[in-house]
Amino acid sequence: MKITVVGAGAVGATVADNIARKELCQELVLVDIKEGIAEGKAMDMNQTATLLGFDTRVIGSTNDYTKTAGTDVAVITSGIPRKPGMTREELIGTNASIVKGVTENILKHSPNAIIVVISNPMDTMTYLALKSSGLPKNRIIGMGGILDSARFKYYLTQALNCSAADLHAVVVGGHGDTTMIPLTRLAVLNGNPVSNLLDAATLQKVAADTMVGGATLTKLIGTSAWYAPGAAGAALVESIVRDEKKVFPCCVALDGEYGQKDICLGVPVVIGKNGWEKIVDYKLDAAEQDAFNKSADAVRSMNSVLDTLTL
Ligand code: 2OP
Repeated sequence: MKITVVGAGAVGATVADNIARKELCQELVLVDIKEGIAEGKAMDMNQTATLLGFDTRVIGSTNDYTKTAGTDVAVITSGIPRKPGMTREELIGTNASIVKGVTENILKHSPNAIIVVISNPMDTMTYLALKSSGLPKNRIIGMGGILDSARFKYYLTQALNCSAADLHAVVVGGHGDTTMIPLTRLAVLNGNPVSNLLDAATLQKVAADTMVGGATLTKLIGTSAWYAPGAAGAALVESIVRDEKKVFPCCVALDGEYGQKDICLGVPVVIGKNGWEKIVDYKLDAAEQDAFNKSADAVRSMNSVLDTLTL
């Protein structure tokens, strides 16, 4: 098993660090366009291995994709992150050409790779990777919903004073401050709907805090998050390489499921060795479906910006 992470910034390096510690592959390639960054961070991780005792070997590469040949799963994190006050959507002009180029380079050397997209605006970058590569749809997966669901669970643990391990809580729709949909109706603590435990106003605040969870951090740090995005990316890769068949909300191509077509959007999917293997129907109620449709409209209008760019 060989895994490549493209982009050795905070998110990419943290995805790689989590993958190495979990020993998800023998060989992990970290690629960056900036001279020396990937090599240096790879060396740092390999030195960590002597302390923690993991066997994954990390190889750094300054934009040399020949080193990525034979990759089974490639994670794309390249591009610029958002700064305080910016939306993920504002990154589209810069990140679209980067993501398209990286996808081409990966597939040139690893035509059978499964591609995980983390670069923002993630829903549009996933759609771009799918359209520009022509890959079968199950091999392109956008990572956003796992992270947003982690933030949803975090705010629920705060409100309920409970263990996150006892919670099931899922965010669907787009990976944007106004497009994500925390499914409060379906969130459960040990099988007990959280609406039995929290009043409507508290639950609404949990949902609102979840939606701006990334922006709240960005304001504090001055750039966007990396620990939870890194752990979420690695959890997704783990379910692929270990063929775990976990159900995660991920951004995938819809062809009529959840009432939408010709779009990549967050829905619960089974993740295994073939990429995303099945969409799970959570049977949204009318209000949830309405929110999902509005989210799709917003993402579709962002996707239409791609047509105006020369990539
Ligand atoms: C986030 O929400 C980076 O999009 C990522 O933190």
